[in-house]
Amino acid sequence: MEVVIRPTHEDAAELTARFIAHAIRQKPKLVLGLATGRTMEAVYHILVRLHKDEGLDFSLVETFNLDEYIGLPPAHPQSYRHYMREQLFKNVNIDLRNTHFPRGNAPDIEAECRRYESAIRECGGIDLQLLGIGRSGHIGFNEPLSAMFSRTRAKALTPATMAQNSPLFPNPEDMPRRAITMGVGTILDSKEIILLATGEEKAGVIAKAVEGPVTSMISASALQLHPSCHVIIDEAAGSKLQNKDYYHWIFDNEPDWDDYR
Ligand code: F6R
Repeated sequence: MEVVIRPTHEDAAELTARFIAHAIRQKPKLVLGLATGRTMEAVYHILVRLHKDEGLDFSLVETFNLDEYIGLPPAHPQSYRHYMREQLFKNVNIDLRNTHFPRGNAPDIEAECRRYESAIRECGGIDLQLLGIGRSGHIGFNEPLSAMFSRTRAKALTPATMAQNSPLFPNPEDMPRRAITMGVGTILDSKEIILLATGEEKAGVIAKAVEGPVTSMISASALQLHPSCHVIIDEAAGSKLQNKDYYHWIFDNEPDWDDYR
C-alpha cells in the first residue's frame, strides 16, 4: 500500500483523475472499476474536463461499478447507474454498452451476482479499481465483517451507512437497506487499486484502514494485502496518521510520481 497526501480535496481529486487518465492513455481498452458517492464527484468532473480539453478518449473503456441499491430500477434518480450517467457518462465519449452495473431490480439477486462476477471475468478482470471509503470502513458496500474472500453478493447496510447516505434521498426513509456489492475478494482481484478519501470525517477510518491491523471489522484494511494499492487523501483525511512524514517523502521523491507532480 502506498499513501499520498495532497493539501486539499481538489488536489487529491485532481491526482486521482490524472492517475485514471494516465491508465486510459496507456491502455485505451482499460477495464475500469468505478465508485459513486460525494467524494467521487470532483474526480468525474475533472475527467470530463480532461476529455474536453485534452481529448481523453473513453470510446474503448469498459467500466464496472462497485455496487447498486437493491430494489431501485436503473432509471431511478438515486440509482448508481443514474449517478454515473449524470456525473460522467453523458459528458464523455463512452459507449454505454461498455458500462456495467449489478441490476438492483433483478428478479433473482443471487443469479444477478453470479452474472456480474462472470461479466467481470469475461472482460479479463478489472485493470484499475477506483474506491471511496465509508465511515464504517466499507469499500463498495462491504460492511464490517465482510469476508476477505467475499464475492459479489447482497449486503445489509449498517446504521452508519444509512445515516451517511439517506440524506441523499428526497425522503430519507426511502433509502434501500440492502445493496448488491462486489465482494472484498472481487475488489482484491483488481490489478491495481486507487482509494480516494477526503475530509476530516474520514480521518479516523483512514488511520484504521491504513495503519491498523487487517480486520474484517474495517473492510478497507484488506487493501493492505494488495500488491498495488494507492491511497490518495487530503491533509484533513490524513490528520490521524502516524507516519505522515514518510508518506510525504515518498510522493516528493519517488520517481513513479514524476508524471503527477
Ligand atoms: C459507492 C461506494 C461507497 C462510497 C463510500 C464513500 O459506490 O463504493 O463505498 O465510496 O460510501 O461515500 P462518500 O464519498 O459519499 O463519502
